[in-house]
Amino acid sequence: MLYSKPVTEIIEKRFSCRTYIDKPIAEEDRERLSDYLSAIGAGPFGAAVRFRLVAATDQDRKALKGLGTYGFIKGATGFIVGAAGPSRKNLEDFGYMMESVILFATDMGLGTCWLGGTFTRSSFAKKISATVEELVPAVTSVGYILKKEQSDVTVRQIVGGHNRQPWGNLFFREKFGIPLSPDEAGSYAAPLEMVRIGPSATNKQPWRIIKDGDSWHFYMQRTRGYGDTLTFKLLNIADLQRVDMGIAMCHFEMAAGELGLKGRWDIKEPKIEKPASLCEYSASWIGNFL
Ligand SMILES: Cc1cc2nc3c(=O)[nH]c(=O)nc-3n(C[C@H](O)[C@H](O)[C@H](O)COP(=O)(O)O)c2cc1C
Repeated sequence: MLYSKPVTEIIEKRFSCRTYIDKPIAEEDRERLSDYLSAIGAGPFGAAVRFRLVAATDQDRKALKGLGTYGFIKGATGFIVGAAGPSRKNLEDFGYMMESVILFATDMGLGTCWLGGTFTRSSFAKKISATVEELVPAVTSVGYILKKEQSDVTVRQIVGGHNRQPWGNLFFREKFGIPLSPDEAGSYAAPLEMVRIGPSATNKQPWRIIKDGDSWHFYMQRTRGYGDTLTFKLLNIADLQRVDMGIAMCHFEMAAGELGLKGRWDIKEPKIEKPASLCEYSASWIGNFL
């Protein structure tokens, strides 16, 4: 078993920790986490993604602000840096894999916070020796949790970190606009709930899921300015909402796996009409697949 506790419990426990005890991560904890990073399997779409745990310097912590991240990270003593090679679903794989690392760290009792920004040409990219082909879409701060202080509460309030959209906005039956109830979701109610409570960049929760028989189609409802603009493309800034979709897939698959629900990922857009603009098909979970 990957984690010591049920994954649903770990997902519920995770939060964006922005204030840490200023104490280096103990060697045995560093080793456990690094071992996990080196043994990590592939994401659902097989992109080349790798991770490294690095010690945080004062300079790194200060540099964060200039890299497009928000919120003030206080006292983090480590960063998990990841690099993704070029491929069609590399950012989804990155999100999926980094989130599995975060859940592992949460299970160990460590605090974490996703930090998305323009890391690809930064000192963080150097720490993982990122090649010109690789993207560093986000890093994760890691360390021992200091009790939730005012600073954590404030950032959470600004981005509405404790709020989540209701089921009716996120999950649908056969087509957009027909809400899916937890009863109708049946054994998949828990995997969907784990998607709903997951983290996302500025808490936008872009995931939309349609149940169609045994298939669960994942769509991304973009926020304007998050990856769809020319500037975004020209500057090669990682598309954080695709990373959010990977996080959703990680929570969904892990919670389903724990319930013994079998399935596999596929990329084949169904003929379902999408709402207005900025909604894109991501991938489908084909359930009952033996
Ligand atoms: C891809 C991604 C990027 C994020 N970037 C930042 C960031 O730069 N600064 C920050 O303080 N929080 C960041 N967050 C954390 C979100 O704000 C947080 O997950 C969300 O508000 C929900 O709160 P929670 O994680 O405490 O449940 C990021 C989250 C994700 C998934």
